[in-house]
Amino acid sequence: MDEKKGLKDAYALKTPEDSINLYKTWASTYDDDFAKQNDYRSPIEIAKFFAKYSNPEDTPILDVGAGTGLIGECLNLDSKEIDAIDISPEMLNIARLKNCYSKIIEADLTKTLLINDHHYGAIVSAGTFTHGHVGPDVFDELLRVTRSGGLFVFTVHYQLFNKAGFDKKLIEIQKMITKPAFHEVYVYGNNPDKEHGSDKVIITVFRKR
Ligand SMILES: C[S@@+](CC[C@H](N)C(=O)[O-])C[C@H]1O[C@@H](n2cnc3c(N)ncnc32)[C@H](O)[C@@H]1O
Repeated sequence: MDEKKGLKDAYALKTPEDSINLYKTWASTYDDDFAKQNDYRSPIEIAKFFAKYSNPEDTPILDVGAGTGLIGECLNLDSKEIDAIDISPEMLNIARLKNCYSKIIEADLTKTLLINDHHYGAIVSAGTFTHGHVGPDVFDELLRVTRSGGLFVFTVHYQLFNKAGFDKKLIEIQKMITKPAFHEVYVYGNNPDKEHGSDKVIITVFRKR
């Protein structure tokens, strides 16, 4: 790799092809150089809120934009089936090595997914609904592949919640979901980046009706 990849590269993405290219070179150092060094907290926060809101019926679980599988590691559930979906084969290769996913699905979330209707009992996601990555329209497909009663627990970047239209999307789909709960959390415990080191996400939780 020619230079260290990081937040600035991630936030400059514009298209799914940009994601494929960036994460191809970032995958091998993502866990150590990005997640560990900056104390990247979103996956553990998702696991915490999943534990708070879930019940044993919320299975199988789909980790949306699973990347290197940090949520799978944090959830650390023996009895539940968790699948990983991501556009980057290199990120998914790292996730596969962690042996916490039942299935690894390489797919572009902005396209129709090759997943049956009502298949999943829960959707979890960290760091995917953020600058230059995936927008609110993905929820049409995510709702389709989730069964009635299925739980959603995901981060949305604080600065994008209204700007990228997640607020409007939740209103558009309000008849299909329970009233969302919102939790603001800091993304990093230790990130010296001046512009983004104190970034927050909104952990959004609801169930499909
Ligand atoms: C910041 S990483 C987060 C990974 C992991 N969830 C975590 O918290 O460490 C964002 C992930 O979204 C994936 N991604 C970006 N655009 C995508 C798309 N259109 N379809 C599927 N995955 C996408 C990237 O490949 C990357 O693995």
